[in-house]
Parts: sequence; structure tokens; C-alpha cells
Amino acid sequence: MSGTEDTAESLSEVTFDNSCEPGNEDSNPGISTKDNVITIGATVPTGFELTAADEVQEKLGSKARISKDRGKIYFEIPVTSLPQVHQLRSIDNLFVVVQEFKDYVFKETKEEALKDLEDLAKKLPWTDPLEVWRLNTSLKKRKNRRKKSGQQFNTKKDKLKDDGSGEGTVDKKLHNVLESAQVQDSENGDGMEPPDEDEQSDSKEESPSSGEQESGDCKKSEIGTEQLKFRVTCNRAGDKHSFKSNEAARDFGGAVQDFFQWKADMTNFDVEVLLNIHNNEVVVGIALTEESLHRRNITHFGPTTLRSTLAYGMLRLCDPQPADVIVDPMCGTGAIPIEGAAEWSNCYHLAGDNNPQAIKRTANNISSLLKQSKGCASAGKPIDSIQWDICNLPLRTGSVDVIVTDMPFGKRIGSKKKNWDLYPSCLMEMSRICRPRTGRAVLLTQDKKCFAKALSKMGHLWRKSQTVWVNVGGLHAAVYLLRRSAEKFEETKSHW
Ligand SMILES: C[S@@+](CC[C@H](N)C(=O)[O-])C[C@H]1O[C@@H](n2cnc3c(N)ncnc32)[C@H](O)[C@@H]1O
Repeated sequence: MSGTEDTAESLSEVTFDNSCEPGNEDSNPGISTKDNVITIGATVPTGFELTAADEVQEKLGSKARISKDRGKIYFEIPVTSLPQVHQLRSIDNLFVVVQEFKDYVFKETKEEALKDLEDLAKKLPWTDPLEVWRLNTSLKKRKNRRKKSGQQFNTKKDKLKDDGSGEGTVDKKLHNVLESAQVQDSENGDGMEPPDEDEQSDSKEESPSSGEQESGDCKKSEIGTEQLKFRVTCNRAGDKHSFKSNEAARDFGGAVQDFFQWKADMTNFDVEVLLNIHNNEVVVGIALTEESLHRRNITHFGPTTLRSTLAYGMLRLCDPQPADVIVDPMCGTGAIPIEGAAEWSNCYHLAGDNNPQAIKRTANNISSLLKQSKGCASAGKPIDSIQWDICNLPLRTGSVDVIVTDMPFGKRIGSKKKNWDLYPSCLMEMSRICRPRTGRAVLLTQDKKCFAKALSKMGHLWRKSQTVWVNVGGLHAAVYLLRRSAEKFEETKSHW
């Protein structure tokens, strides 16, 4: 029996406690206790929700729902698939859903609406999502420790951080099996990276803890006796709420604190409770990632390093095929080709830039990745980097299958004025190197006007087949999928 099968079999024996199910019929609890299915929420780059849903379907066999709240998807998985969820390439942050309310009715006055949120906190089915959080914490601890020591873990020594005995409602065996699954999983070199500065949220202010509170929904003894530190983060969208996000986080958080007797700590917390409010949709979750997964590949950052999750979405748009030659001619720190080499190792990836500093960073990022994967069967990565000018590439005509690049927006790199010359020249050179009829290009830019003008003069060489609107560091940008026409490139000057 393989390690994965073994894990699945052991996990299927685990029984979640269902004593905390609320009687609210309008809402979906985060866990179906019948078959240990959990609901996972994931934040993804806005615009790439469908791509993320496709990845979930392909890799986990689950159909994901795309939230009305942009940049989020939800899907159900068996708890056995928790390690694989962390391997998804299009996911920024993960949480386990405690409960969803599709049509939550907020009272009109601020006081009443906030009082309802307080009451809600005490009624939610916390037990099973907290067990998922515990499992997840043990997975992450294993991963981090393995990253630090570079050695195989001793599963006997590692106990769950619950009541000190390692026993909760989930069988101890489960943890050992999950841990060994994690050992395999961490060999892929997928790490936890620095936090996402782009993300905005409101956090609860610290409030004094009050006396013990008994409620019908959840037995605190089952959560564990240790005093955890927590914070509540409220993300709210919609203009019909009578309260602010920080007020919701504060009052909801106060009730969570009273209920569990946890200590509020805004920076050094164990549990992050998420209160996501989008118009009249409310989703309560528990974060499973402390830091966004999007910087997994990069150790040497530049001024415009692209999120790996966005890079993945761009690469996936052009559907790489085995043996494709994929080029990023303006690679910066190499986020796109490095993600490409990690996920599509059966293609050859080439990264170039005219800035020597960028090439140095790319080379350092590639070498960090190679160090991480040392000891694996596929230690080498099919990737090279080179300094060049996009307007005169040292590549043969028609030799490239796919071009994926993040063009200078003319803000932090270059200028809008320079783009008027750069964009037509680089589109022309791209059409030269790209294979007629089958070649594709996926190009990201915020300078949409300049891009549209340049493309309009090259309709005989490129056909725009898709546009994805994305948010890059708060800027409204576009990702264009272009297909190379069958027309041969007219050689006007000598090329490679
Ligand atoms: C938006 S940045 C790319 C950022 C990159 N995706 C990353 O993750 O770091 C655009 C890059 O285009 C490069 N560039 C600008 N003009 C160029 C040219 N003529 N030839 C090659 N690269 C160029 C810049 O040096 C810059 O690194």
C-alpha cells in the first residue's frame, strides 16, 4: 500500500464529533460529519477564479464554487486531501469554513446588528473546524521543521498542540499518518513564504476577556484546555451595513474570546478567525495559512515581482504541452519561468531581461530552488536565464511555442512614454520568434491603451482570444491570450 493510500485509509476511520451542529437550516456547516468532508475556502488572484476552480477539479476531483465576493472559491474535500490542498498552485490563502450564510439578514441599527454577530459567535459549530485547524497546524509544523533541519521527522516526538495528550476527537494515529504524508509532501519544496502586503483587512482590537460562557452548541472541553491566542479578521464588502469592519471584528471577537476563554493577540496569534461579509453573504472560517502561498518560489525579490499564483494562472491560460519551448523575454526576478519549471517540468523554460540586476536575481532564485529540490529525483530544473533586449532576441524565427510575460506598466519600470515605442517593437519581435499557427502569447499589462494600439497594427500576426482582468498590487490590469496566425514572419532584417 502506498503512503497516500495508507493515509486515506486511516483518515477514513476518523469520526468527527457532531454535537455542535446548530439548528439553522439556512446555512451550511463547514463539515459534513457523515463522510468527513470539509469545506475549504481559498483566496485566489482576482480574475483567475475559474482557473483555480479548474485546478481544484483536476487535482482534487472537487467541483469548486466561485464566490460572488471576487477572488474566492469554495470546495468540499475529504479531510484526507488536506495535504494536497496546500500543493495547489493557484491558491493564495486557505481557510476551513465554520459556517456559511448565503442570505444573512443584518438588523438595521448598528447595535442590533453587532449584537446578532456576538450571538452568532456562540452558536457556531466550531468543534470540527477546530480539529481541522489542529491537523493543519501539525502538518505545517512538520513542514517547517523539516525545512529547517533538512532531515526526516521522528513522528513519535511530534504531538498535537491540544490538551497535551495528543488526543482530541481525532485519532492519534491520524496525526502520525498525516505527518508521514507531510514528509512526502514537503519534499516538493513548497514552503510558507512572507505575508502578502497587498492584502487589506481589519482586525479586532484587544478586549478584556470576560467570564466563562456556556452555550448549547459547542463543548469547550472538546476544543482543548490550553489557552490559545487568537485574532478575528473581518473582510467586508458592501455599502448597506450599519457597522464598520473593525466594529464587527471587535464584537464578534469579544464573543469568541468569552466563549473559548482564549487570549486576544493581534500579532502573535495561534488561531485566526475570519469573518467574511459580502453584502448579505456571511462566511465564518478559520485560517489554514498564516502567510500567503504566492511567494513560494522567490527568495530574491525585485520592485515588481509577480505573485507565483498569478504567474501560474498566466501559464495555465496558454495550456503548455510537453516539450514546448516557453519564453519570458522580460522576466524580472523570474517569477513566471520559475513557476513554469516547477509545474511544467516537461517543457523548456527560458528567461531573459535587459537589466543585469534582474538576471542576477533570477539566477539566484533558480539556484535557491535547485538547492531546495536537492536530493529529489529531478534535481535539475529545465530553465535558463540570459541578458537580452526584447527588441532583438538571440532566438531563431519561429522557434518558440509560448511567450508568457509581464510587461513594464510604465509606472515602477520604464514610463508610459517609452511604452509607445517598446510595445510595438516587442510585439513585432514576439511575432518573429513565435511559431506560426500554433504559437501563443500570454501578456500582462496595465498600459491597456498602448497595448491595444500596438496590437491593432499586427492583426495579421496575432489574434486576441481571451482577456482576463486582474488586480496587480491594486492596479487594474489585463492578461491577454494571443494566438499566432499562420502567416509567416516577413524578414526585413537579418535575424538569428
Ligand atoms: C514588470 S517587470 C517584470 C517583473 C517580473 N515578472 C517579476 O516577477 O519580477 C518588466 C521587466 O521588463 C524588463 N524590460 C524592460 N525593457 C526591456 C527590454 N527592452 N528588454 C528586455 N527586458 C526589458 C525590465 O527590466 C523588468 O524587469
